[in-house]
Amino acid sequence: MTGDIIDGKRVADEIRGELQARLERLRARGVNPGLTAILVGDNPGSQLYVKMKGRACEEMGMAHQTITMPKDTPQDVLLREVASLNRDPKVHGILVQQPLPPQIAVEAAVTAVDPRKDVDCFHPDNVGRVLIGTPRFAPATPAGVVELLVRSGNDPAGKDVVIAGRSNIVGKPLAALLMQKAPKANATVTVVHSATRDLAAHTRRADILVAAMGAPQTIRADMVQDGVVVIDVATNRIPDATKKSGYRTVGDVDFDAVKEKAKAITPVPGGVGPMTIAMLLVNTVRAAELALE
Ligand SMILES: NC(=O)c1ccc[n+]([C@@H]2O[C@H](COP(=O)([O-])OP(=O)(O)OC[C@H]3O[C@@H](n4cnc5c(N)ncnc54)[C@H](OP(=O)(O)O)[C@@H]3O)[C@@H](O)[C@H]2O)c1
Repeated sequence: MTGDIIDGKRVADEIRGELQARLERLRARGVNPGLTAILVGDNPGSQLYVKMKGRACEEMGMAHQTITMPKDTPQDVLLREVASLNRDPKVHGILVQQPLPPQIAVEAAVTAVDPRKDVDCFHPDNVGRVLIGTPRFAPATPAGVVELLVRSGNDPAGKDVVIAGRSNIVGKPLAALLMQKAPKANATVTVVHSATRDLAAHTRRADILVAAMGAPQTIRADMVQDGVVVIDVATNRIPDATKKSGYRTVGDVDFDAVKEKAKAITPVPGGVGPMTIAMLLVNTVRAAELALE
């Protein structure tokens, strides 16, 4: 069996297309959704992500701005900036790009954002709502994983889903989404991590395997069962002398070998990445709708 390749770019385009009607309704009421990203420091990865998010807003005709702050910005200066954006009615979505420099506590930055503008869905109020099944926003990357599954014909309901990784950004909120007694969920969820005794014993049982470890090509073909559906969230850079940049991007899964056993699998890049951005746009539109309620 050679698995279907789940095209994240195509699904992301579909989701963006579906947003148009909501955007038109907002514009008819004089509102154009706007996203503000705050970038502290000069991390090249973060610069690229913020640029991609801004470009995605532009493509939809949505407003966006990036506020760049030096890497030695004191925490209280960042928090004052966030507070001023919280008060600005033209700003519907606010995101503080991570990672943050060490003098800024992630928790302080995350809780400073007005929960109604928290389009990353990182504020404890929004995380809690996801957990109890009454979400205000969907966490972008996990929601992207769910949409990829459902729209590729692999609804997680009743399936054994194994999530490798338990971060606050991917693993934990994805587990919270998939375990709900709700549409696009209702899965039996196992979360594995670096203290898991026998990773392969768990991954081999998975009907759906989501890899979000940041451990390049760790999931080999002998660690999955025939017919598995694989979503590879990770983006790992590994050295590659044949590339001009000197590196290439790979996931946590040995794609070429695992796709021979899989029913369906996402590529890296071109799988989850475009979905994260599409779901951020959905959340920004949602934030603009909330502001009118
Ligand atoms: N495509 C996208 O839009 C997108 C979005 C977010 C993240 N990502 C990518 O997804 C990956 C994960 O990101 P993250 O922020 O969730 O990372 P993270 O905060 O570093 O968390 C990694 C998780 O994986 C576990 N882990 C690491 N190595 C492992 C191993 N060998 N065996 C079992 N578990 C292992 C860790 O366990 P412990 O908890 O025990 O340390 C941790 O729970 C990264 O490659 C990141 O670039 C992509």
